[in-house]
This record gives sequence, C-alpha cells and structure tokens, in this order.
Amino acid sequence: MSIPTKKIQMVDLKSQYEKIKSEVDAGIQNVINNTAFINGPAVKEFQADLEKYLNVKHVIPCANGTDALQIAMMALALKPGDEVITASFTYVATAEVIGLLGLTPVLVDVDKDTFNINVEAIERAITPNTKAIVPVHLFGQCANMEQIIALAKKYDLFVIEDVAQAIGADYTFSDGKKLKAGTIGTIGCTSFFPSKNLGCYGDGGAIFTNDDLLAKKLRMIAHHGQSKQYVHDVLGINSRLDTIQAAILKEKLKHLDEYAAARNKAANYYDKAFANHSKIITPIRAKNSTHVFHQYTIQLVGVDRTKFREQLFERGIPAMIYYPIPLHLQNAYKSDRFKKEDFSITEKLCATVLSLPMHTEMDEETLKYICTNLLELVK
Ligand SMILES: Cc1ncc(COP(=O)(O)O)c(C=O)c1O
Repeated sequence: MSIPTKKIQMVDLKSQYEKIKSEVDAGIQNVINNTAFINGPAVKEFQADLEKYLNVKHVIPCANGTDALQIAMMALALKPGDEVITASFTYVATAEVIGLLGLTPVLVDVDKDTFNINVEAIERAITPNTKAIVPVHLFGQCANMEQIIALAKKYDLFVIEDVAQAIGADYTFSDGKKLKAGTIGTIGCTSFFPSKNLGCYGDGGAIFTNDDLLAKKLRMIAHHGQSKQYVHDVLGINSRLDTIQAAILKEKLKHLDEYAAARNKAANYYDKAFANHSKIITPIRAKNSTHVFHQYTIQLVGVDRTKFREQLFERGIPAMIYYPIPLHLQNAYKSDRFKKEDFSITEKLCATVLSLPMHTEMDEETLKYICTNLLELVK
C-alpha cells in the first residue's frame, strides 16, 4: 500500500486552518486594525461565547492552562501543607502547580479502562489535611465525576477539574442531569495550547466557575490581585489571554462540536480496525461521559513498543507515548509517601500505551494506511 500523498501527522493544524482561514484572518486583522492587543473586545466576546457553550456562569480567560490551575488553587486559599490529590498518570502541569504553591501533591493510581483517576484510590488517600481533588479528564473523556463529587461532599473538599484535554465532553449523572466537562466541580481549568481540541495559535487558557464570589477572586488574581486600578487586595499574578488568540478561539469555538465529531469518526475507524486484536487494546469509553478524543491511545500487549514505534516511523506513521514516566517516579515529585504497589495501573500504562495520529482532518486514505501498516507490524 503506497504512503498517502498528505504527510501523516499527530495533529494537522494547517489543514484545519485552511478551512477557516478567511474568518480567522479577518479576526486577527480586526484586532490589529483596532490595536486592541491587550484585553481587547474579542476577549470579552470569546468569554461570553464560551460561557454560553459551556452553560457556565463565569469564564475567566488567562494566559495558559498551567496558570489556570495555579490561579484556581490560589483562589481557594489553599495553604502550604494542604494536601491536593491528583493522578500520577497525567501531564505534569497539575502536580507542578500544587508543588509551586507549597501544597503537598498526593498522587494516586488511575482506572485501567478509562485511564482517569481512580475513585477508591482517592478515598484511600484522603487525610485530615486533604483540601482538594484535581481530576484530569484525560485524553478526552470525563473522570468519574458523580463519585468524585460525592467524595468531595463527604469529606468537604474542593474539586478542580483539569479539562485541558476534554473541553466539549458531556457528563451525564445517574439522575439524567448533563453537564459540560469543567463545569461540574468547584472550578474548571483549561488550556488552549494549539494541539488541544479547542486550541489557539499560541498560548491560552481559561478558568470556569458557577460561583460569583469565586469568579471575582479568580479574575482579581489573574490580574495582579487588583480590585480596581492600582489597588491590590490579594496576591496575584499577571495572566491574560492575548486578544489575537481570543479572536482565533472565538472562530474555532463555532466548530468545536464538529471537530469532536470528526475525531469520533476517526476513533470509530480505529476501533473497528483493531477490534478483538490479541495485541491491541482499544480505548474503552467511560459510561457517563462522551469522548472528544483528544488522543486515541491504545495499549500494546506483548509488543516491543520501542521497536514497533520505530517501524511505524519508517513507514511515515508518527505515534507518541503519553506518558512514558509517571509523576510518582519523576525526580521532581518522588516521595517516600508513594509506594510502588499503589501505582500498578499507572506503571503498566506508562509501559504499554501508544497514541496514534488523531485530529480533525483525518481522511479515509490516511486511516486505512495507518491501520493496515499497524496491523501488519504488530503481528
Ligand atoms: C491535562 C493538562 N493540564 C494542563 C496542561 C497545561 O496547559 P498549558 O500548556 O496551556 O499550560 C496541559 C497541556 O498542555 C494538559 O494536557
């Protein structure tokens, strides 16, 4: 089978841009024409559009997803020594911010099927010092929010959702109530990093909450702790969403659901091609969440992953390992508090996962080429 004419990429932002080029270019040009570079009208407009899309009272735009997490934890007045529980199988930003604020990161294992934080592991890790849980909705689907919210109520904890990889996903509670990922807990945090499902053309992030007082505080903290000009009531940082990025996001938000549908179409193709394969475990869909497939991540069984990945590369197929080293084994986060036996799923996943090309512009020719070659090489 010959290699597709279009280079295979993990994410194809160029082709996506070409389809919305005139709208995006006009949005950028408008910001330049008005020289409204900092906190220009597009920031407020995008904020309002996202509030409507998420059905949340407050969206506070900021500079990136890591800042969003930091601002959230500052607003909740967490103090050094307070413990914050999050998953070990995730991107570093969550644990990094906990550490930076002098809080204690408490890392726990994940579910074998969804790769999301394990609820029993959370409960085992709760102590009198625990103040918050940070579920990361990994790879595009929600953690078990119904049980996490129940735990938070039982132990009086905050829930900060890291929705950087799952914006647009819907979570349905057992009573039928449906909420958007990131609007379920106390605060939701997201990133608009270019490769994210809702990505801009640089850095960007946002914080969501339904709590009016908290929203006011979050906004203040993101703006030097300022309540009015040159009056600083609380310790803050400088974290702004660039107006040009807001103009791009405003346009891209219109397409977010259509992008999720395109990702699901590609995921369904992969699912079908790899169904019942003895060496490939396809991603399992969580019961109460839709999946927006930020990543399509398979687990390899009895396969030399390094060699396999090299062979794929040789055939022009990129594949990434998200994440090769769990946080509890990273030098920056190692601690005697973490016992190897408590992280069996995380460690297994780090050794076996492989993320395949996944984006909004996957065509049938590309999918067919990837699947045919992958099945040939995995034998
Ligand atoms: C789960 C998760 N949280 C936080 C972040 C941090 O976002 P940013 O790179 O915008 O700071 C990322 C990704 O980059 C992420 O994937």
